Amino acid sequence: MTENVDVVVIGAGAAGLMCAAEAGKRGRSVRLLDHGKKAGRKIIISGGGRCNFTNMYAEPANYLSQNPHFCKSALAQYTQWDFIAMVDKHGIAYHEKTLGQLFCDDSAHQIVDMLLKECDDAGVKVQLRTEILGVEKLDNGFLVKTSQGELACTSLVVACGGLSMPKLGATPLGYQIAEQFGLNVLPTRAGLVPFTLQPEQKEVLAELSGVSVDSYATAKDGTGFKEALLFTHRGLSGPAVLQVSSYWQPGEAVTFDLSPQESLIDWLLEQAKTQPQLTLKNALARKFPKSMVEAWIKLHQLPNPAIGQLSNKLREQLNTVLHQWQVIPSGTEGYRTAEVTLGGVDTNGLSSKTMAAKNVDGLYFIGEVVDVTGWLGGFNFQWAWSSGWLAGQYA
Ligand code: FDA
Repeated sequence: MTENVDVVVIGAGAAGLMCAAEAGKRGRSVRLLDHGKKAGRKIIISGGGRCNFTNMYAEPANYLSQNPHFCKSALAQYTQWDFIAMVDKHGIAYHEKTLGQLFCDDSAHQIVDMLLKECDDAGVKVQLRTEILGVEKLDNGFLVKTSQGELACTSLVVACGGLSMPKLGATPLGYQIAEQFGLNVLPTRAGLVPFTLQPEQKEVLAELSGVSVDSYATAKDGTGFKEALLFTHRGLSGPAVLQVSSYWQPGEAVTFDLSPQESLIDWLLEQAKTQPQLTLKNALARKFPKSMVEAWIKLHQLPNPAIGQLSNKLREQLNTVLHQWQVIPSGTEGYRTAEVTLGGVDTNGLSSKTMAAKNVDGLYFIGEVVDVTGWLGGFNFQWAWSSGWLAGQYA
């Protein structure tokens, strides 16, 4: 037996929950489907369990897309302040951690509960543990075949996310539906993801696992981020690395300034005025963890003279390895640990005013499945809320 509803939303993640609630508020009968046993699984684990749900400074410049203008309309129509107002309405306490990033004081579960309450109040039926077996076009809408039966709908919203973290339910279904209906899908790759290193570097730097230092990381195209760099037993991570990874292509170098605030050469020369006998190693240990100084000396085969006797050549070498440390990662940790998927449904095939497919009436794509990817810091959820809200006004 086929059930009839106005709207089917595939994917009860951030974008799907928002869209379903909004469409329900317009009086549409909405079915929100997910193959998982819980809604909003990525929300729950995000931000270390506290969900960095938006960023106070979110703007189009914080997003990557083949068409950087596409995200403007959604972000302007449903802003971070609109989402913050919803969080306030539900009495959820939050704080700014850094750089405009807003986190729940207590738990990310509060954000999922809030969205489920909005869905419930709007009469949305959330149907979990439901496999999507196929989608067909009908004269006046779509037929969605599932493991729990068939649903006919006039609007179909695809909100099933990207490929990152398959263990949390990520599948390529959204891209497959796009292709089935003739939309172009741009190549995908892991974003906001740690780098792996070449064996020689990995061996030396693995000793630094857990060490974090300030840095300014720059990609080949010049995009840079001043954030922490974290050494891990697999390679490089931390916010600076995650951010720059979205701008990285295999084979390219990433440059790290390990003292973005201050010239270390000037500082060493200053120190040499009062303590010329101090060794380079001991001097640098005043600025960096000792283990890092040891590893740096080993990795770059630096001598260890008294700082009163630094040659011009050594100064230049120090400048290079400390302020312009170039790394060619061997790769990334891939979708297993990536926070997001770059690429996806080509925005050329979508209306930025409604998120609807231009060539198929009633078909919408929202959230991460679309070729719009935010920086680290709450920007990806804001895109999910904004694009989900927008489609919810039309689906
Ligand atoms: P999302 O992935 O949330 O939802 C897709 C839904 O579709 C899932 O529920 C999935 O089960 C379902 N689905 C997939 N395939 C299906 C199929 N075949 N059949 C049925 N259902 C299917 N962003 C941010 O702004 N702040 C943060 O703090 C974090 N933190 C963070 C931590 C970690 C570990 C990760 C992996 C990611 C983040 N992110 C983040 C990114 C953020 O989670 C992501 O951008 C949004 O969840 C995307 O929302 P969507 O609704 O598009 O997809």
